[in-house]
Amino acid sequence: MARYTITDKSQIDPDEDAAPAYGTRHKEQKRRKATAREGVAKHSFESNPDVQRWLSEARDDEGAKAPFAPEALVGRRDGEWVLSSLTAFYEQDMIADVLREVKSGKEATVFCCSGGPACAHDLLAAKVYRPRMFRSLSNDAQYREGRTVRNESGKQVKLTGKGVPSRSSAKGRAFQVESWIGYEYAAQELAFGLGVSTPRPYSQVGNSLLMEYIGDEEMVAPRLCEIDVDRGEAQGLLDGLLESIELLLGGHRIHGDLSSYNILAWQGRPYIIDFAQAVDPRHGDGARELLTRDVVRVAQALAPFGARVDARAAADRMWWGYLGQPV
Ligand SMILES: Nc1ncnc2c1ncn2[C@@H]1O[C@H](COP(=O)(O)OP(=O)(O)OP(=O)(O)O)[C@@H](O)[C@H]1O
Ligand SMILES: [Mg+2]
Repeated sequence: MARYTITDKSQIDPDEDAAPAYGTRHKEQKRRKATAREGVAKHSFESNPDVQRWLSEARDDEGAKAPFAPEALVGRRDGEWVLSSLTAFYEQDMIADVLREVKSGKEATVFCCSGGPACAHDLLAAKVYRPRMFRSLSNDAQYREGRTVRNESGKQVKLTGKGVPSRSSAKGRAFQVESWIGYEYAAQELAFGLGVSTPRPYSQVGNSLLMEYIGDEEMVAPRLCEIDVDRGEAQGLLDGLLESIELLLGGHRIHGDLSSYNILAWQGRPYIIDFAQAVDPRHGDGARELLTRDVVRVAQALAPFGARVDARAAADRMWWGYLGQPV
């Protein structure tokens, strides 16, 4: 259980009352996961013994998995979109089921899933980008100010030429959005590998990212903007975040959108999320300003709880240390 006090109840889903208690549901998921490992069908709509036997036989015959049909998606307007977005993770044994929606953000919805046999974690967070991201061909700025298509090493990719679909076509738009999402995933993967405090990323397929879930069966980790931090812990959180920013910079990335909204706090540890705006300081202008903004915002978030740092001086020190490295 977190040691923080949640001050904002905005994360509580008003529809939750209607759904089975999360803890109860998760126990059920654990049971299903165990059953799944024994090769028996597991989804709730398959509770009929005849259906279970048939599915079990079919699976034995063909080595196929039971169809993916999470109860939590039934009745959702975007149910089909989410289902198709997450099926690949299920097929790859990374998730066993979708437990509930965690939060709907500007561009994506995050779901809490139970982990499948291929994952080391019992709970996973799946971030599913919405269809409108793919549909809107006209006004990019509305969704991603200044975002460009980049390859995995952060270099801008020209959206013209052989083999690249036209940007004004639906295919071109899908290509562009998937490239952003791939870049977001690659940045988080890089960050995790460098030792940055961030949820462990597992996979990205199309419009969806899969990562370690921060929280437990009862609650999702609160964002830093939602809590009162113990005065005794604030400095440790700030120091940990500054260290993470510097580690990331050493890997040629700046988060670019770091604030108390993109930091989860759990059991005394901060977790940086949402690498969608990450930039490579080797490509493009304004990197130093972005770095300074990230450091200042993190310092501002923890200042009310007694954590102290000269943020601009810390950002300068990081920047010059970075430039001193071979680039
Ligand atoms: N790994 C995770 N574990 C637990 N909760 C998570 C995780 N990743 C994201 N969340 C929750 O989902 C929310 C949205 O995630 P994220 O910031 O990546 O998406 P977003 O679309 O940019 O949202 P926003 O518009 O709110 O910034 C987070 O604020 C957090 O509450
Ligand atoms: Mg965010």
